[in-house]
Amino acid sequence: MRKVSILIGICLLAGVALTLWAQAVEEQLSPVMKQVAPTAASLRMNLTAKDASAAANDAQKLGELFTQAQGIFKAAKVGDAAKVAKGNAAEAQETLAAIKAGDWDAATAKAGAIQRTCKGCHDVHREEVSPGSKTYKFKP
Ligand code: HEC
Repeated sequence: MRKVSILIGICLLAGVALTLWAQAVEEQLSPVMKQVAPTAASLRMNLTAKDASAAANDAQKLGELFTQAQGIFKAAKVGDAAKVAKGNAAEAQETLAAIKAGDWDAATAKAGAIQRTCKGCHDVHREEVSPGSKTYKFKP
């Protein structure tokens, strides 16, 4: 009986630890993601408008945001997400280089590649707190 209680205690603690850990990841990630969305949208718009200086700013910022996301995922040992975030940071740098070179087609293609990673990662690692709530949490 005592052993069972200890075992139950350990399981409860592990459950609490996992929840706290997931919450900590989310607290760091949420402000980053909240900037990723408008920055990616602004980049798309400025690429369409061929506004080099605004698009370059967006690409630069998007790269920095995904570098931050990579750091958060890496520290939390979520390897697959860290890898996607790292790839996006590199892709954002390439987008920036293409904008500076005046190659709009390449810049648009690179930005599109970043855009296509959102859903894949969300499907695996993002969860809506309750259906239709539009509040999200991190899923390990
Ligand atoms: C490598 C994984 C990954 C990629 C890539 C990714 N996200 Fe996220 N995103 C998450 C996770 C995990 C959450 C849930 C935790 C949270 O809310 O921060 C999230 C949450 C969000 C949220 C909700 C933020 C909040 O707290 O309300 C938005 C908006 C968002 N992502 C936009 C984007 C957009 C736009 C892209 C692509 C340009 C993108 N994300 C790419 C992992 C990712």
